[in-house]
Amino acid sequence: MKLTFIGHAAFLLEAGGKKILIDPFLTGNPVAKQKADEIACDYVLITHAHGDHIGDAEAIIKRTGATCVTTNEIAQDLGSKGIQAHGMHLGGKHGFDFGTVKLVLALHGSGIAGGHACGFLIETEGKKLYFAGDTALTMDMQLLRDVWGPIDVAVLPVGSYFTMDVPDAAVACRFVAPRYCVPAHYGTFPAIAANIDDLRSRVAKESPQTEVVEIAPGASHTF
Ligand code: NI
Ligand code: MN
Repeated sequence: MKLTFIGHAAFLLEAGGKKILIDPFLTGNPVAKQKADEIACDYVLITHAHGDHIGDAEAIIKRTGATCVTTNEIAQDLGSKGIQAHGMHLGGKHGFDFGTVKLVLALHGSGIAGGHACGFLIETEGKKLYFAGDTALTMDMQLLRDVWGPIDVAVLPVGSYFTMDVPDAAVACRFVAPRYCVPAHYGTFPAIAANIDDLRSRVAKESPQTEVVEIAPGASHTF
């Protein structure tokens, strides 16, 4: 499977023969090279409704006809804009034609009244990927591998200010014990600068089996 880092927290996962776009913040994203009116996708997954995550979702879904997967409150709001979305919620899992998506806890604002932020556990091509979304470090991260088995790839925010910082993300690696950690939500703006060499050395101590895979905005990595 191929994972492209669009920039900030936006990723394009190509797996199971489908293109899955996660947190499509492209317009106004200073590090994104792709444009919202050019990107192709079959699915759009939204962790929460802060502008740097829901981003261009409405326009992209309307143009591409992509299937949207998000929380119930965001799905209802998109419904009022003429978009039919899968309004799932925390703890829930659903099968799609590329694999399954489970909504997991993220400790963060929802960006919409009454909602919760979420992360995604995606199982596809026999691999398990954890997209943490925006979150603080939580003990609940330890549950992921306990209930879902070994995690292959964990995409974690590391930029601090709004989310975990580098030391917290290294502990999150110990809790999740993924084979690979992809850092996200850093470097987009000065307030969320992060030192990925520091992340590497901390992860080496906290979770020796985890390899940090830094993907530059616009670049891809095949897992
Ligand atoms: Ni946020
Ligand atoms: Mn954010």
